[in-house]
Amino acid sequence: MASFTLTVNQQPRTISVAPETPLLWVLRDHLTLLGTKFGCGLGLCGACTVHLNGIAIRSCQLPVSAVGDMAVTTIEGLDPANQHPLQRAWCEHDVPQCGYCQAGQIMTAASFLKQNPTPTDPQIDEAMAGNLCRCGTYLRIRAAIKDAAKIGATAT
Ligand code: FES
Ligand code: FES
Repeated sequence: MASFTLTVNQQPRTISVAPETPLLWVLRDHLTLLGTKFGCGLGLCGACTVHLNGIAIRSCQLPVSAVGDMAVTTIEGLDPANQHPLQRAWCEHDVPQCGYCQAGQIMTAASFLKQNPTPTDPQIDEAMAGNLCRCGTYLRIRAAIKDAAKIGATAT
């Protein structure tokens, strides 16, 4: 066991865990941030996507010891009022079905739109290709990302 102080959603959070513990389990089991989901545990589905210094990463693949002083943002911290342009567009398009993959989808999309604020459809499809949805909400995801881009999804 070792003690780590992480910056999560702009707050310092201290936990004692084994250094190899994946960030995903620190977020869910120790910090009770349950929006980030466990899907495959292998870096293949994107359900566990969070931001590290604004970049989308797979939290199931990152040992907590590798986080250091980088800022972790989860779906709970994307916008203080849950009014990020992507979250608004997600609601307008009724994107989720079961909902399980959706936090990861939004976190990937938010990082992508910061890098490419005016994406084309193929660019959206390419950026989101690593986030799987067993319910097949892909068309609504793309439409919502396009709408969010129009209103400027530039927040972290
Ligand atoms: S749970 Fe991390 S990529 Fe699937
Ligand atoms: S909404 Fe069910 S897995 Fe994506």
